[in-house]
Amino acid sequence: MAAHWDRVYREKDWRDVSWFQDDPQVSTALIEQSGIGWDAAIIDVGGGASVLGLQLLAAGFRDVTLLDVAESAVATARDELGFTGNTVTADVTRWQPRRRYRLWHDRAIFHFLTAAADREAYRWTLEAAIDPDGWMVLGTFAADGPEQCSGLPTARHDADALAAEFPGWQVVATRREEHRTPWGAVQPFTWLLLRHVSRET
Ligand SMILES: C[S@@+](CC[C@H](N)C(=O)[O-])C[C@H]1O[C@@H](n2cnc3c(N)ncnc32)[C@H](O)[C@@H]1O
Repeated sequence: MAAHWDRVYREKDWRDVSWFQDDPQVSTALIEQSGIGWDAAIIDVGGGASVLGLQLLAAGFRDVTLLDVAESAVATARDELGFTGNTVTADVTRWQPRRRYRLWHDRAIFHFLTAAADREAYRWTLEAAIDPDGWMVLGTFAADGPEQCSGLPTARHDADALAAEFPGWQVVATRREEHRTPWGAVQPFTWLLLRHVSRET
């Protein structure tokens, strides 16, 4: 799996992947809606070579971490995009965080976790990484979204089904987004802003 993603970012320009966005407006709007302060620690899991981390640093957030399983994605973010935040190369389903974060952002990893055991492992990492009263911004393919991405099958969710995956969390906001790929295809996304309320997962 790491080899697959590593190859994607070595073989393609970061602006040519289907998930490319030059302005991640839904992410930034939901992060703003959380109301977290500039010193709050933010982690973007599966952040790849996205511009979100750059935008957050430019906006004034001081503690931004990019985690991705693909070393080539992390290298692109650092060396080509100029991302100066913290970086972690790890599989989110196996990673053991050494600190906690106030906000967890995931655009388009969770929908690759088609096996229940992988989703459970993701939740364990999330619980180990998040502040007791932390926030999560989560975007996955919508119920009518694509059945595959980057050659891998995806699990698609409407807002209720996605919220049901995170029982210890309260839904604060939901959004539907129609993402346009660089070649103009439409990919519907379901977005949630969630507040951590308990550790029962
Ligand atoms: C569809 S891309 C989305 C990238 C980025 N979030 C964005 O919105 O542009 C999925 C990303 O998740 C990473 N990824 C996939 N599975 C992962 C895992 N288990 N742990 C960490 N990163 C993973 C991939 O390397 C890739 O960068």
